Amino acid sequence: MLSVNFTNCLTESIGLEHGLSENELLALEGRLSDAHQNVMRQAETGKLGFIDLPNQAPEAKKLMAWARRFRGSFDTLVVLGIGGSALGTIAAQQALRTPYWNLLDKKARNGWLRVFVFDNVDPRWAADLAAVLDLKKTAFNVISKSGTTAESLAAYFIFRKAVETAVGPKKAPGHFVITTDAQKGYLRELADREHLVSFVVPANVGGRFSVLTPVGLVPLALSGLDLVDLLEGAKAMRARCQGGALQKNPAAAYAAIQYLYYQKGVKLSVLMPYAQNLYSVADWYRQLWAESLGKRVDRSGRTVNAGPTPIKALGVTDQHSQAQLYMEGPYDKVITFLSVQDFGRKVTIPKVDKNHYLGGRTLNDLLKAEEQGTRSALTKAQRPNLTVTVSDISETTVGELFFFFEMATAYMGELMNINAFDQPGVELAKVYTHALMGRAGYETQRAELEAMQKKEAEGKYVV
Ligand code: PA5
Repeated sequence: MLSVNFTNCLTESIGLEHGLSENELLALEGRLSDAHQNVMRQAETGKLGFIDLPNQAPEAKKLMAWARRFRGSFDTLVVLGIGGSALGTIAAQQALRTPYWNLLDKKARNGWLRVFVFDNVDPRWAADLAAVLDLKKTAFNVISKSGTTAESLAAYFIFRKAVETAVGPKKAPGHFVITTDAQKGYLRELADREHLVSFVVPANVGGRFSVLTPVGLVPLALSGLDLVDLLEGAKAMRARCQGGALQKNPAAAYAAIQYLYYQKGVKLSVLMPYAQNLYSVADWYRQLWAESLGKRVDRSGRTVNAGPTPIKALGVTDQHSQAQLYMEGPYDKVITFLSVQDFGRKVTIPKVDKNHYLGGRTLNDLLKAEEQGTRSALTKAQRPNLTVTVSDISETTVGELFFFFEMATAYMGELMNINAFDQPGVELAKVYTHALMGRAGYETQRAELEAMQKKEAEGKYVV
């Protein structure tokens, strides 16, 4: 069961100047309770679909049965999506499968598919990926909630053409599975026109909150993961996210710590898993936190330019990269350790040199010693840190983690009085991309951009 330990954020651990007092925390409980009520009210009126996603066990079972049938014709799945349409899949796949999953043969994968996620438009990466795929055995899951995102559509066109060349235009449609809106967007029209296998992203679930919709569930099912357990974990977390009491609601506790430090000017929030498999969970969280909480205006329309900056780090690797800064740099960070109790593997360090202290100990001991050493050192240096612990790395605990961070983000949005569920800044960049790529209807923006580009090109600070 997931736990949150924030002792090392309290004055008794890190002193009056940098610590939080019990009173400060208790004083926030009323507002946290309101935040919870507000989130639930939005869920009840159908605005926040992510809250109800854990209750889909029957749909998940059907999806797993479909995946069992679909996998037979293929060896590899390539996800074409970006942002919220990619990061959750990467996080769960990396957490729950060996990093070398794609190198295993099909037997070792129990017939399940290799999974690649192509979430960029780097031409070199596209060409290199195309060069290694056996297109006759490759399926593509094109994922875009809007169905119009340029990156994902460009990738679709490239791989559609490649598949048509490899298997012929008649068989090619069978290689594509679409996940998009129920009614609108280019991908929905395409899926309907060509009768492609397709899944729906519920309109009331935002992209970065969509990992437990078909956005994440379809690829994870094709990798053979247990969707029911994933949802069970999320459901268990949902049951614990009630009210504003810090000792009871883990997501409220996490949001409270982050909010109080943010209010004190501590604007950087580091998430540091001490588990290689959970590194991409930090990446997923980084998007969730940044896109949800980085906002120009608050709910009353007042300009606030708000938002804590999420940073991902990895234990123990980044002890040799970031820890010096965290220990002695500015007091502008709150550091969250993401800790795992049982790795499900034990690796003993052999006694190659019988006089060496490492011989006979385990990597498990070493990792834990490094984690505790870093935690204690940060505490001694009066650096606020908290620890989120999961019992192991399984579908259940990954589901718990996803829902925990989603609820914490929702609470944080309420405390900050901003809309955590839109992304106007991202939309503007999308509009500009369409304009620059010559899409009809974007002529005004194109003229504006050309003027800006001219200014850049003529700039006097160019060497
Ligand atoms: O969270 C979000 O809304 C975004 O990160 C989107 O997921 C991202 O921009 C991709 O959008 P779409 O799924 O519409 O292609």
